[in-house]
Amino acid sequence: MKLTVADYPYSRLRRLRQNSSVRELFQENHLLASDLIWPIFIRNTADTAEITTMPGVVRYLVDELEEQVNEAYQLGIRAVLFSPKTPSDLKSADGKEAFNPNNLICQAIKKIKIAVPQMTILTDVALDPYTSHGHDGLLNDTGYVENDSTISALIKQSLNQVAAGADGICPSDMMDGRIKLIRDALETNGHHNILLVSYAVKYASCFYGPFRSAVGANLKGDKKAYQVNPANVTEALLEVKQDIQEGADAIIIKPGLPYLDIISKANGYGAAIWAYQVSGEYAMIKCAAAANAIDEKAAFLEICLSFKRAGASKIVTYAAKEIARCLRENLG
Ligand code: PBG
Repeated sequence: MKLTVADYPYSRLRRLRQNSSVRELFQENHLLASDLIWPIFIRNTADTAEITTMPGVVRYLVDELEEQVNEAYQLGIRAVLFSPKTPSDLKSADGKEAFNPNNLICQAIKKIKIAVPQMTILTDVALDPYTSHGHDGLLNDTGYVENDSTISALIKQSLNQVAAGADGICPSDMMDGRIKLIRDALETNGHHNILLVSYAVKYASCFYGPFRSAVGANLKGDKKAYQVNPANVTEALLEVKQDIQEGADAIIIKPGLPYLDIISKANGYGAAIWAYQVSGEYAMIKCAAAANAIDEKAAFLEICLSFKRAGASKIVTYAAKEIARCLRENLG
């Protein structure tokens, strides 16, 4: 027998929306504070806190982190993601400051590991916060980002961050094969429990601008020779599949909102899918709210719910604490 959906008046879908209690009874997706991952920028004393293109986001000194991370934990957030603003005199073509065991990121990890041990510390792995040219990897003579030598550098960077105490590392560089080789290096060095979260699908997007100013990256050219073409789906799903096969524990799709279709399709490959609401998406909401065009809290909550609806299990967002506060006040 063919089942058909009842028509009006046997089905009245407004019945499911008649009051808040019934609406909750039929609510299909929920947003929790523990769904949120908070990305944090770290600076040294020579740099300024303010990031003009990201209202409400600041770069923190290592000494300010404990209070911030503690507060995030109290709000129900269970993971933070660190990125550094490397002082420009420490940047170089080979980004070797990434391997310094006492660089800003390692200082931050060490401090928070002791001060707030219950918080999961994730770190971004890519060379762009450390290179003078702002690319995620090493350039050859023609200015092309070399795949395999870059991976060797990323392995060194990963092991450096893990030695400082990172619980998980998130390669965001888009080199081919790096998940496998980083996983091998972790295993060889006895780091069996380190989470490896791949930015498997990172699109060559215009929405990363504020992040680049936040970490002080002076990008020469663009990243189209390694980040995914925004027009492509099949290629994005191949990235997801490969990185899961290579040993990724979770997959990040970024940006988030313009790529909900990819989040939705990436489910079912065998690993958790996380959405990254990137800096430009954050700035759009903040700027629209500042112009009184939209309600900021409602916009963040609705968009985060859209990530959950599309199939993301976690959401990386600069507004994590603000959203967690809304959820606590029951605005969500
Ligand atoms: C570094 C990196 C970038 C972002 C996360 N890691 C910038 C880039 O690829 O240029 C962007 C995040 C954001 O915009 O919030 N590889």
